[in-house]
Amino acid sequence: MSSDLSQKIAVVATPDSDLERARQFAESHGLTFSLEQEVQTIASCSQQAARASSPPYILFYQARFVSIVQSQKGAPGPVSACFLGGKAEHRRKFGGGRGQLIARAAGLKNGIVPSVLDATAGLGRDAFVLASLGCKVQLLERSPVISELLSCALQTAKLSEIDDIVARMTLETADAVGWLNAQTGNVADVIYLDPMYPQRDKSSLVKKEMRVFKELVGTDGDDAALLAAALDKARYRIVVKRPRKGVMIEGPAPTYQLSGKSSRYDIYALKGLDSLKVR
Ligand SMILES: C[S@@+](CC[C@H](N)C(=O)[O-])C[C@H]1O[C@@H](n2cnc3c(N)ncnc32)[C@H](O)[C@@H]1O
Repeated sequence: MSSDLSQKIAVVATPDSDLERARQFAESHGLTFSLEQEVQTIASCSQQAARASSPPYILFYQARFVSIVQSQKGAPGPVSACFLGGKAEHRRKFGGGRGQLIARAAGLKNGIVPSVLDATAGLGRDAFVLASLGCKVQLLERSPVISELLSCALQTAKLSEIDDIVARMTLETADAVGWLNAQTGNVADVIYLDPMYPQRDKSSLVKKEMRVFKELVGTDGDDAALLAAALDKARYRIVVKRPRKGVMIEGPAPTYQLSGKSSRYDIYALKGLDSLKVR
């Protein structure tokens, strides 16, 4: 895994970044590390890497910000996890609260705030929405690079005005199938799954994150095993996110579905959440 990863990504850090962390990450995954005095911006990082014919991706550590930068000519912009500002902040303030499809799928209602295991954390956006609505969310991510982006974003957010929200989020780098199968009892009220969909439609494919995920993480071919493991370890329900017209994960049929403009949630209900109601 480490040697394969080193063909795809190298670590570059600026002097004002968390150098110790960057160095350690590179070392523990067998990746090339360089400290760049001159490289200060994403654009200069990308240009320099392209000239140096390094791996196609760079994990770029800057002060309080870590991103994946592509080094090819004409490559799309950087990919990072971020809970401050931008879309995350807009959705938190104006996204519709418990009326959002993901919240309804997870069973949030007045007085019902389930604990959630997000077994396919990715960039943590869905988990952040649920944590913003009060859920305790445990996140699992098996790609060490994606997990590092997420971990750095959580660390930065802990020092901001949304520290109370991210305090409800804990992250572990682990394969969820193995992790779930190793647990002896229920791990959360709700288990949330959003594995990569094998044939994402064109509009999704052009998204830079999707391209990076596909090339760096690969496709998630074990979703049937993941669903089976989740069915065995959730207390109330399993929620699977799919493209609106995407096929269901192989296995038992969902109890019901909630469809939005581009996504659909397949809900596998084990029992009602009413006993969670706080009066
Ligand atoms: C489509 S992304 C999830 C996006 C996420 N819901 C968000 O809001 O950012 C899928 C992620 O799940 C991870 N993943 C897939 N199968 C996994 C497994 N069995 N264990 C842990 N992580 C897994 C992949 O590495 C990838 O980062």
